Amino acid sequence: MCKVFAVASGKGGTGKTTVTAGLSSALALMGKRVCAIDADIGLSNLDLALGLQDKVVFDLFDLVCGRAEREDVLIRHPDTDGLYFIAAPSEREQIDPEALRAEIEKLSEDFDYIFIDCCAGLGSGFEMSAHAASCALVVSTPDTPCLKDSARAADCFFREGITDVRLVLNRVRPKMIKKGNAANVDESMDRIGLPLVGLIFDDERVITAFNRCEPLMLKQKKGAAADIRDIARRLEHIPVRPRI
Ligand SMILES: Nc1ncnc2c1ncn2[C@@H]1O[C@H](COP(=O)(O)OP(=O)(O)OP(=O)(O)O)[C@@H](O)[C@H]1O
Ligand SMILES: [Mg+2]
Repeated sequence: MCKVFAVASGKGGTGKTTVTAGLSSALALMGKRVCAIDADIGLSNLDLALGLQDKVVFDLFDLVCGRAEREDVLIRHPDTDGLYFIAAPSEREQIDPEALRAEIEKLSEDFDYIFIDCCAGLGSGFEMSAHAASCALVVSTPDTPCLKDSARAADCFFREGITDVRLVLNRVRPKMIKKGNAANVDESMDRIGLPLVGLIFDDERVITAFNRCEPLMLKQKKGAAADIRDIARRLEHIPVRPRI
């Protein structure tokens, strides 16, 4: 059965798009059929993270409004078998949450995983994505303001009736934790009140890959790419060797 994950956060810039692109690629490389949907309307960049920016013709709004066929909206990744992408509208279009949910339900028949890259914050864009999802990943850094807002994002998912909500702790910097200048993993989990599905260390290679519009998971094996692969394995219930 297809799992539809909303990937969200309270604050912006926590790594939602990085996690969506990374997990979608990792699971496709494991043989799964995956659809990555950019729901960050007007501020999208999942296309860049997947290296698909030159392939976008139609977008999510076209699909939901019936202006384009599904075959025309779904972009097949040329370098990763099983990975498909749906772009966000570049203009601030209003998408009807019920219509989006119905479209994603239809897509679910053809995929093992659907990841929805949400916009930052907890407004109507967030609610639209949450309404279409069956599970959620809250991406937070271990910074106090971010943890606080991530806890609110988690509450919003619970209110939407989503019970499988897990934490991805991103941009973890062991030196700061050791010095007591950032929350450690246990403190982060306690403050958000969610189970941890995995942590991703702060890694310059993520920034380089994004800047070059190169999919991280195709370019890198170590560092954050390995952390993301571990999270993909956990989603598939495959045992993972602890890193720290
Ligand atoms: N683990 C990491 N190590 C280093 N840099 C990272 C890591 N994760 C994300 N980044 C960088 O942080 C920035 C924001 O990441 P990203 O765009 O994935 O966040 P976002 O939550 O989707 O942002 P927005 O709220 O604007 O949509 C990017 O420059 C990205 O390269
Ligand atoms: Mg983003």
